[in-house]
Amino acid sequence: MQPTERMRPSRKERARDDAAVVGSEMTEAKRRAVTWMDVIWLMFLAGLALLPPVKEIHKQEILLAFGLMQLAEGWLVRRIPRRGPAYIVLIKIGLATLLIGHTGEISINSSYYPIYLLPVITAAEYFGPWATLAWTTLASAAYCSYLYPALNPEILEFEITPESYFELAIRVLFFFLAAMVVNRYVVESRRQTKRYQELAETLAETNRRLEQAQAEARRSERLAALGQMSAGLAHEIRNPLGVIKGSAEMLTQKLGESNPLASELAGYISSETNRLSALVTRFLDFARPLHADLTPQDITSVLDRALNDVAKACKDAAVRVERDYAPNLPPVALDESLCEQAFVNIVQNAYDAMGANGGLLRVKVGKSRVAARDGNNTGGVEVRIEDTGPGIPAELREQIFNPFVTTKKSGVGLGLSIVSKIMDGHHASIRIEAAGAPASGGAAIGASFVMFFPAASEKAAFDEPAHLVIS
Ligand SMILES: Nc1ncnc2c1ncn2[C@@H]1O[C@H](COP(=O)(O)OP(=O)(O)OP(=O)(O)O)[C@@H](O)[C@H]1O
Ligand SMILES: [Mg+2]
Repeated sequence: MQPTERMRPSRKERARDDAAVVGSEMTEAKRRAVTWMDVIWLMFLAGLALLPPVKEIHKQEILLAFGLMQLAEGWLVRRIPRRGPAYIVLIKIGLATLLIGHTGEISINSSYYPIYLLPVITAAEYFGPWATLAWTTLASAAYCSYLYPALNPEILEFEITPESYFELAIRVLFFFLAAMVVNRYVVESRRQTKRYQELAETLAETNRRLEQAQAEARRSERLAALGQMSAGLAHEIRNPLGVIKGSAEMLTQKLGESNPLASELAGYISSETNRLSALVTRFLDFARPLHADLTPQDITSVLDRALNDVAKACKDAAVRVERDYAPNLPPVALDESLCEQAFVNIVQNAYDAMGANGGLLRVKVGKSRVAARDGNNTGGVEVRIEDTGPGIPAELREQIFNPFVTTKKSGVGLGLSIVSKIMDGHHASIRIEAAGAPASGGAAIGASFVMFFPAASEKAAFDEPAHLVIS
């Protein structure tokens, strides 16, 4: 995605980002114990130790301190990630200044002055451009502080010519040049790394979505095949069922009071046929393409109707319903009867799960936003239906939206597959959350179904035709 002008960060933000990136990634790089780069540094310091003045013990001690500092740098940055780099640069400036003081009769003339490149480059590695400039200025000031004894006739008898000033200025300028070159390179390389990381994350996300879409497509294919089969079967079963039911009813009428046993048996045939017929209707509901008429409306009234339907059907259940509807909910493009069916299926499952003991059914509706596939946010309504039943075992959670998955004696296992189909038709999503309310002091229990319906005002909802066939 191309960044828009508005989204582009300001220069100040970018410098801060760069510094943060440099800091964090350098920290990452320095995390490894001792790298081959450290060994090269140590060899370089050993080379300096072998150069005159070899017998100057302070010089050797300072070089040793530099070596130890180099080895401890990673550890220090790890221990104090925020201030660590500043401490390291400060210590290196101090050591460089001491080294200059011990490597020349006239310190400002010491050939070891490029040692200041160590703190300068370290600063360039860890900090952003402005901080690097500040650290380089400090290092240059530390170096130039040796002008004071050189200029003070009471301390030294030394005369500084204009050429020497030029020479000093050139040296200092080279400190800045080195700092800026290294910093520019480091910042650019970190920025590239960050860009690649972002690209890799985007790719991973796209990949994940693709896999999800493939899984959904596979599930739809399976559902379509099952649907066709169920539709064929159901159709074939329905006709003989009609005949059986008609015959049983005729038998009951004919036998009347004369043969109570035969009449009772005919009654069983009739009631079982009714059950089978309801089952077949459920199969057909599942298999048949659903025709959805989407019109923007208030989702809570549909939800209320579903709650009342189930409450009426399960009068004896000791279930307390707690409703929590947020005000000013946006209208949602819905097919009333399909949506009501979906809610009924979920609420019925909750009543079934809580069983004879009853429990609490919490229904919460609120505004929500979710990240859409195109990366933008979609506004809409979230419906959360939670019960205090035994919950859904983790291993079942993946499967219960598949048809014919049931744990109930008399269940068909089609309720949630129909819900899932209706959700697809509304561009809505449904997910199960681990648990509802935690039991007092114990493990969390209950099932929680969370649905998201995009608001009717969202572009995606408007793009859909008002009449939709969900097959
Ligand atoms: N609220 C819930 N608490 C616990 N388990 C649940 C809940 N909702 C669904 N389930 C589990 O998911 C399974 C599938 O539910 P689904 O509604 O698809 O089928 P069913 O209720 O078994 O049969 P039917 O087709 O009659 O609805 C259920 O058998 C049950 O094990
Ligand atoms: Mg069910």
